[in-house]
Parts: sequence; C-alpha cells; structure tokens
Amino acid sequence: MVVVPPILPLLLSTLALADCECGYSLSTTGPSSSSTYVFTDLVESNFACLHDISKNTDWVRQEFNLSKSRARGEYGEMFAVDNVATNPMQIDNADSGRLGAEGSEDSAGLQLIVRRELVEEMVPVAEIDTHRLDMFWGSFRASMRMTNVSGTCAAFFWYFNDTQEIDIEFLSKDFNTTNSSYPVNLVLQSREAMQAGFNAALTSNFVKAYLPFNPAAAFHEYRIDYVPGRVFFYADGALLAKMDGPAVPTSPGHLILQHWSNGNPLWTGGPPAQDTVLTVRYVKAYFNSSTPERNRDWASRCKNPAAAEAVCRIPDLTAANLSAASWFFSEHGNMTNNQTVYQESGASRQEFLWPKLWKLVGVLMAWGCLLTS
Ligand SMILES: *[C@@H]1O[C@H](CO)[C@@H](O)[C@H](O)[C@H]1NC(C)=O
Ligand SMILES: *[C@@H]1O[C@H](CO)[C@@H](O)[C@H](O)[C@H]1NC(C)=O
Ligand SMILES: *[C@@H]1O[C@H](CO)[C@@H](O)[C@H](O)[C@H]1NC(C)=O
Ligand SMILES: *[C@@H]1O[C@H](CO)[C@@H](O)[C@H](O)[C@H]1NC(C)=O
Ligand SMILES: *[C@@H]1O[C@H](CO)[C@@H](O)[C@H](O)[C@H]1NC(C)=O
Ligand SMILES: *[C@@H]1O[C@H](CO)[C@@H](O)[C@H](O)[C@H]1NC(C)=O
Ligand SMILES: *[C@@H]1O[C@H](CO)[C@@H](O)[C@H](O)[C@H]1NC(C)=O
Ligand SMILES: *[C@@H]1O[C@H](CO)[C@@H](O)[C@H](O)[C@H]1NC(C)=O
Ligand SMILES: *[C@@H]1O[C@H](CO)[C@@H](O)[C@H](O)[C@H]1NC(C)=O
Repeated sequence: MVVVPPILPLLLSTLALADCECGYSLSTTGPSSSSTYVFTDLVESNFACLHDISKNTDWVRQEFNLSKSRARGEYGEMFAVDNVATNPMQIDNADSGRLGAEGSEDSAGLQLIVRRELVEEMVPVAEIDTHRLDMFWGSFRASMRMTNVSGTCAAFFWYFNDTQEIDIEFLSKDFNTTNSSYPVNLVLQSREAMQAGFNAALTSNFVKAYLPFNPAAAFHEYRIDYVPGRVFFYADGALLAKMDGPAVPTSPGHLILQHWSNGNPLWTGGPPAQDTVLTVRYVKAYFNSSTPERNRDWASRCKNPAAAEAVCRIPDLTAANLSAASWFFSEHGNMTNNQTVYQESGASRQEFLWPKLWKLVGVLMAWGCLLTS
C-alpha cells in the first residue's frame, strides 16, 4: 500500500511561500471545527530521522527513581536515560517506512524501553518531557507504535500538575488480538488517584475508547486538542472523545511521553516478560505560549494575520489520507521563522532539499532523513 500519495509535491509547492508568521490553524473536520483555533508556536520532532537525543534541545530525558510506595505498585520504577534510544531510518530503507501501513516492518523512531530485569526492586522504565513548559492551549500529536508485550503502560500526556493533566494511556495487557479488542484510556485527572484504585470509570473525565486497529501492529497518530474549556481526543484523525467541564485544565503545561510498569495488577500488570519498546515516530505540537517573551515575539513578527499565508493550516492526518504524517513545517523553508524547533543537521537541510532534490526523490523525501546521513 502506498501511503504517501503523489499529491505531496503539489502540497509542498503550493505552501512553500507561506511564512506562517501569525501561526498555525486547526483544519479539523470534527466537532472542533465550529470554532477556529490558531496557535502561535510549534515544536516538531521527526524522531525517525534523529540520531542523538542527548543533544536535542526540544526534549529532556528523565532520570529519577520511585520507590514501590511512591510508584503505588508492586515494584518501584527506575526512570533512566539509557532506556531512551534512537533508531533512525536508514536511507536504504526509507521507502519501506510507510507510516501507518499495517504490518510495516519499519521500526524507525525514538524507543522508550521497559526492561524485564528489576534493579533493586524497581522496573527500569523511560520518560521524555518537552523542554518548553509554556504550552497554553494546543494541538498535540504523536505517532506511536505500542508494544504487544503485556505489562506496560504507554502514555502521551500534557501535564501541569496532578489535577491539571490530559492523558492518553495504553495498557498492553488489555490488547486482545483474538477478539480485536484494543482499548485506550482517555483521562482528565490525577494519576495518583487512578493508581490508588479510584474508580475513574464512573466519572465523566475518563473514557475507555476502543481503537479500530491493533496499536501494536503499526504506527498511528494519537492527538489531543486542548482549547479553552474543551479537550478532544483523536486516533488517526477520528474523534474518540470530547470532554468539558471543570476538569478541563486552565494552565500552561508541557508534554510527556512515558513507557512504564509498576506491577500493579489493577493497572499496568507486569513487569513485562521481556524487554519491550514503545516507538515514537514523531511529535508535533502547535500551541500558544504563556510567556510574555513569546507573546511579544508573535506580536512583532505577525504583521497582518489576514494576509495570505500568514496563518498556515495544519494538515490533518486521517485513516483515509496518511500523507499528513510526513508533513513538518520545520522541514520547509520559511514556515518556522522565529520558532524554537531543534534541527539536528542545521539549516543546510532545507537548502539542500529545497528546491533541487525533491522531485527526484519522491517517496524517499517523505521522511526527509536524507540530509542527516
Ligand atoms: C523566504 O522568504 C523570503 C522573504 O520573504 C523570500 O525571498 C524567499 O524566496 C522565501 N524562500 C522560500 C524557500 O520560500
Ligand atoms: C493564540 O494566540 C493568538 C495570538 O494572541 C490568538 O489570536 C489566538 O486566538 C490564541 N489561540 C487560542 C486557542 O486561544
Ligand atoms: C536509581 O537507582 C539506581 C539503583 O540504585 C541507581 O544506580 C541510580 O543512580 C538511581 N538514579 C537516581 C536518579 O537516583
Ligand atoms: C508481537 O509483535 C511481534 C512483532 O512486532 C510479533 O512477532 C509477535 O508475534 C507479536 N506477538 C503477539 C503475542 O502478538
Ligand atoms: C494544580 O494547579 C491548579 C491551578 O493552579 C490548582 O488549583 C490545583 O490545586 C493544583 N493541584 C495540585 C495537586 O497541586
Ligand atoms: C481474548 O479474548 C478472548 C475472547 O473474548 C478470550 O477468550 C481470551 O481469554 C482473551 N485473552 C486474553 C489474554 O485476555
Ligand atoms: C475481548 O476480550 C477482553 C478480555 O481480554 C474483554 O475484556 C472484552 O470485553 C472482549 N471484547 C469483546 C468485543 O468481546
Ligand atoms: C490529504 O492530506 C493532504 C495534507 O497532508 C492534503 O493536502 C490533501 O488535500 C488530502 N487529500 C485528500 C484526498 O483529502
Ligand atoms: C524571535 O524574534 C525576536 C525578535 O526578533 C528575537 O528577539 C527572538 O530571539 C526570536 N526567537 C527565536 C526563537 O528565534
């Protein structure tokens, strides 16, 4: 199945002159389309092309230990930087890197590892956090492939504090390929309360949604839209749940990706019987900033929000159209002026690719890893 249709070069050429200096707008076809949301800032990380996470200025690998009682499980947890590994796509394989293709063999992306062997009664686990803590409203997207090894929790969440938190959590022990049952937990509330056994399922801030695909078989995009008074959850662009009311956060926060286990039979189960990996292919975050500095930057670069191309539409990935997966504003000239996006290979990436090469490389370009090798 070819998932990067030939319309991609067309898209590039029509958007190439845009500056996006006034922001990035949601173009959702779901219920949130009744309002238009524009975000001033972005962080985009194409982990399929990343060679060295330790130098990345957008993400911070976490290192801390939780005792069994702090972890509220049968075991403690050891968050260690060694459990975060890069696995960049090789050029030779690039055309097999078909995002979203069922059964895709390609595993390029950032790996968050949970290890089988305990260290001093702690399960070795992994977490990365955005460096920026000022994400106040936003559309947050992560392409991930879950593990199919029972006994871990994979989480993609936005966090301010334990009562202002938006979570997407996958429990690998709940995936059942026999009856095709693939639940995902969508939560607006305290992690501690959940782990203490609080029955969040009875509240309106918890939805157990069932995915129409096996999340361990391929990459899919999971998305949180956090806008004033509302939170929307999506998988491959299909709405899974919408929440509102007093549990919707009202603060700036940051993004966290975690892969963990504490052996609690009521939640993660485990620890897993073998070392096991959550693979993150990309994260794309479009958001407003809570800092006066970034708001001043926006005011000075945004001359006229009504001008053509001053606001760029964020392409939406859907199950029927996966081409948006390979779209990164930060990989195209002029679309991320004054943004903070980290680029491993520096400015040469865009100049080299644009405009000379893209016509020749076709699908290879879709993952844009050419310059990093
Ligand atoms: C970037 O913007 C500058 C100034 O507007 C323009 O001269 C240049 O052609 C643009 N480059 C691309 C690749 O669009
Ligand atoms: C983000 O900030 C811009 C500039 O201040 C504003 O126009 C826009 O409405 C804000 N977006 C949201 C979702 O509040
Ligand atoms: C976590 O515990 C392990 C095992 O005792 C130790 O080697 C490591 O330094 C600890 N990590 C932190 C951040 O304290
Ligand atoms: C888990 O996935 C691997 C490949 O990623 C596959 O070989 C294995 O059969 C799967 N196991 C189960 C229980 O589905
Ligand atoms: C989280 O922040 C909100 C807003 O500042 C505050 O009302 C709430 O008490 C905080 N929760 C915790 C657990 O500290
Ligand atoms: C998966 O579902 C089938 C059918 O409902 C059930 O018989 C089986 O026990 C389930 N497997 C697991 C591991 O829960
Ligand atoms: C599939 O099996 C699981 C147990 O593994 C069960 O909880 C779930 O209800 C079943 N789903 C369906 C649709 O039968
Ligand atoms: C598919 O998505 C791209 C954006 O990635 C968009 O430009 C294109 O129009 C979409 N195609 C269809 C058929 O919706
Ligand atoms: C954005 O532009 C302002 C004004 O030119 C500058 O002070 C600031 O450092 C720039 N920030 C980034 C991240 O480029």
